[in-house]
Amino acid sequence: MINVIGLGYIGLPTALMLASHGVEVVGTDYNKELVATLNSGKTTFKEDGLDELFADAVKAGIRFSTEYQKTDTYVVSVPTPYDKFSKKVDACYVVAAVKSVMEICPKGATVVIESTVSPGTIDKYVRPAIEANGFVIGKDIHLVHAPERIIPGNMVYELLHNNRTIGADDKAIGERIKEMYASFCQGDIVVTDIRTAEMTKVVENTFRAVNIAFANELAKICRHDNMDVYEIIRICNMHPRVNILQPGPGVGGHCISVDPWFLVGDYPSLAKVIDESMKTNDGMPDFVLNRIYEIMKENGITDVSRVGLYGLTYKENVDDCRESPTLQLLESQERHLAAPLKVYDPFIEADVVPNQYHDLDAFLADTDLVVIMVKHTEIRENMDKLTDKVVLDCHNICDLPKVYHL
Ligand SMILES: NC(=O)c1ccc[n+]([C@@H]2O[C@H](COP(=O)([O-])OP(=O)(O)OC[C@H]3O[C@@H](n4cnc5c(N)ncnc54)[C@H](O)[C@@H]3O)[C@@H](O)[C@H]2O)c1
Repeated sequence: MINVIGLGYIGLPTALMLASHGVEVVGTDYNKELVATLNSGKTTFKEDGLDELFADAVKAGIRFSTEYQKTDTYVVSVPTPYDKFSKKVDACYVVAAVKSVMEICPKGATVVIESTVSPGTIDKYVRPAIEANGFVIGKDIHLVHAPERIIPGNMVYELLHNNRTIGADDKAIGERIKEMYASFCQGDIVVTDIRTAEMTKVVENTFRAVNIAFANELAKICRHDNMDVYEIIRICNMHPRVNILQPGPGVGGHCISVDPWFLVGDYPSLAKVIDESMKTNDGMPDFVLNRIYEIMKENGITDVSRVGLYGLTYKENVDDCRESPTLQLLESQERHLAAPLKVYDPFIEADVVPNQYHDLDAFLADTDLVVIMVKHTEIRENMDKLTDKVVLDCHNICDLPKVYHL
């Protein structure tokens, strides 16, 4: 039986995927409310195909509990934020979960860390937490790192089709865990050592952050001298070896806006490009805010309460607003002591910010300048409702008379 610890955006779909492919699974989370919701037959977030996967897993016998289980395999998928001051990974959730596992697990168990960690984290924090219980790693307890690559919005497809990396001390243990993932994963699964697996995951997200920062920097340069960044990128990308990403209002979520900081924190004198890239991306919500003030001035809009931000989530068509550019922009605006802007997002039902709307038409009726922060399908399908508005389109998705860009 596999005990999946942490049933959030990554742990839940992983547990469901294993269970629906014939593996006996118990999902454990210390959040009682979350476990009660799952036990009442409901999923805890919106994701394409998740409800169907949940139904299959329940039929196959998955159980959810707040208790850790006595078993031979644990998959730990708990948060790994970064320390805002040192920029280093904050491994406290992983260490706490591993300590709880150690209190109950039998000798011979394998602990798989799925959480994203910086290279060396497992050596520095996880091994001591295991050894503190008197266990000998490699004899009493086996350690594996299996970082996850899936993207919210396409999780179910990517769980089935992405390639994966497994890092293990012992090749045979790595191969056994590879078999476990191969129960559902149709991609290639590479087995390597733990430190390499740790580094690859962080490097993958850093690669993406640096490339996004390049596009964002181009947007700033082009704005400074009134050039069309989208036309320039379009033409550049016709070069056979150039593939520039699109600029945007910033980066959010718990991967690309977080993981690259681990390298800056651990290698401050070496990770220069990464440091600047992260600062560039983090500066985008402020850049958008300045654009808002410029556009208001140009259009004679004096009342900030007539400005509305479309989208609160960190990317399109998901309900996750952690670290989102809209939240960053609102925070920055609050620091400038300005009245909060109006906000609307079709995916966010709870009230998470002031001046939040829950209906597109009501939001638009109270707004003269609409800022498209997130390119949800809903707004793409309702472009006709923006024809009499001033629009700041941060994603270059609309073809309207009065549209501004980054
Ligand atoms: N969200 C993503 O898109 C994504 C993608 C790839 C990798 N990751 C990585 O996966 C890991 C998990 O991220 P997430 O987005 O699923 O986090 P999350 O916050 O959505 O979920 C984590 C869950 O763990 C539970 N938890 C925390 N400590 C616990 C403990 N000691 N015992 C039991 N339950 C505990 C929390 O209650 C929560 O439900 C992170 O390292 C993240 O960087 C995330």
